[in-house]
Amino acid sequence: METALAKTPQKRQVIFLALLLLLWEAGSETIRYSMPEETGSGSFVANLAKDLGLRVGELAPRGARIHYKGNKQLLQLDIKTGSLLLSEKLDREVLCGATDPCILQFQLLLENPVQFFQADLQLTDINDHSPEFLEREMLLKIPESVQPGTVFPLKIAQDLDIGSNTVQNYTISPNSYFHVVAHNRGDGRKYPELVLDKALDREEQPELSLTLTALDGGAPPRSGTTTIRIEVVDINDNAPEFLQSLYEVQVPENSPLNSLVVRVSARDLDAGTYGTVAYTLFQGDEVTQPFVIDEITGDIRLKKALDFETTQYYNVEIAATDGGGLSGKCTVIIQVVDVNDNAPELTMSTLTSSTPENSPEIVVAIFSVSDPDSGDNGKMVCSIQNDLPFLLKPTFKNFYTLVTESPLDRETRSEYNITITVTDMGTPRLKTEHNITVLVSDVNDNAPAFTQTSYTSKNLILTLFDYLLNLMWVHTVKGHNKARCLFFQRYYYLHTSVGK
Ligand SMILES: *[C@@H]1O[C@H](CO)[C@@H](O)[C@H](O)[C@H]1NC(C)=O
Ligand SMILES: *[C@@H]1O[C@H](CO)[C@@H](O)[C@H](O)[C@H]1NC(C)=O
Ligand SMILES: *[C@@H]1O[C@H](CO)[C@@H](O)[C@H](O)[C@H]1NC(C)=O
Repeated sequence: METALAKTPQKRQVIFLALLLLLWEAGSETIRYSMPEETGSGSFVANLAKDLGLRVGELAPRGARIHYKGNKQLLQLDIKTGSLLLSEKLDREVLCGATDPCILQFQLLLENPVQFFQADLQLTDINDHSPEFLEREMLLKIPESVQPGTVFPLKIAQDLDIGSNTVQNYTISPNSYFHVVAHNRGDGRKYPELVLDKALDREEQPELSLTLTALDGGAPPRSGTTTIRIEVVDINDNAPEFLQSLYEVQVPENSPLNSLVVRVSARDLDAGTYGTVAYTLFQGDEVTQPFVIDEITGDIRLKKALDFETTQYYNVEIAATDGGGLSGKCTVIIQVVDVNDNAPELTMSTLTSSTPENSPEIVVAIFSVSDPDSGDNGKMVCSIQNDLPFLLKPTFKNFYTLVTESPLDRETRSEYNITITVTDMGTPRLKTEHNITVLVSDVNDNAPAFTQTSYTSKNLILTLFDYLLNLMWVHTVKGHNKARCLFFQRYYYLHTSVGK
């Protein structure tokens, strides 16, 4: 074991010396030893007797002993050899704490005659403690808007050792955002500070975990670590963005109310309310649009009913706004798909309720057809029963004429019920029926009906004559006597001109 011996000359002061001589006959010098702390119990410090110029043989008879203030006996004297030994291992941190230098004062006391020697033992520090952080983790909340170069003070590490054996430097685990610097703040201790090198971006990296290491100046250095957790605090630096800037959908015009048209979706990279998006219809020229949007889900639903025949497509602007007031926009083009929701319509322009027999091609009716649906849904086909002597002729645009196919014969059939059917080509097919009745008039018909309730004598005679003529006419026609028929025809014309 190496011990350093040093005799420290002490300045004499007359009064002080006189007092010491009177009380203790004390020696004029303090003898000082020095040894490292933590040396084992029983270790040799120095030969005290020899250093004080005492004979070994006189120690026991004179009752020599070590006096140390306090009750603990840290040092002991070997009476036989005069050696000063450690009673126990001495811990500098326990005995002196942060006091530097650490000096233990003691006395060698001889009782007979009384003699007093002053001595001290300086314990030197060894690096037997590591730096230690009181917190296992430090949490820093740093807004992402903070500028590079900004400094964040960190908590220091403790080290019970002193001098160069205490904390000398700090390092941080490699990362692209921060470096650490150690600062002296006058009390000899080193304070760590975190310096931002590069702007943070919460959307890119919301959290960082770094290891801060404190190093002492020992050889080799001892170290202690703690974790620095950095939470990057969001700022509203992102506007909502729609997944598509344009949505195109097709909706059948007969879609039920409240049915889903399309769901739009916007994303906002910010957190919390800055990242929460509310959807609204961007009111354009058309204030009354048949759609509503769910503020939260972005579902666009049908509010009103659609009608292809009125509006074929809608151009709807949607806005998404975040909690910080930033917004994004998208366009939804809604195409209304026609469904066959309209039956054809028939408009009668001209209708003859009776048509003369024996005539070639007589126009019975003129009508037009229409269907507001488009495509096949609006294409039409017109028909009448097959077994009738009538023809449907397309004329101008959607106009048709109903004509006789061949001369009609009243005696064969005097009345025709004609059903005009207009059918469109949509799915399902929709149709319209229009019934007309066509009477076949007799070209020689002059019904012998009484046309007046009261008759003058001349009229009565004429009427009776008519009646008789008519009976004969019917008889003649039945008998197919063409000569008589001609006679009565002539008479008929004569009579009708007289009647007028
Ligand atoms: C402290 O640590 C830093 C980073 O490792 C290093 O650059 C610097 O030289 C050290 N300072 C001292 C005084 O050792
Ligand atoms: C035509 O219809 C009317 C009434 O709907 C009916 O009285 C008449 O008998 C029908 N005529 C023919 C020839 O079917
Ligand atoms: C037209 O006449 C047919 C045959 O008599 C009948 O079944 C149908 O219901 C009628 N249509 C209309 C619209 O009156």
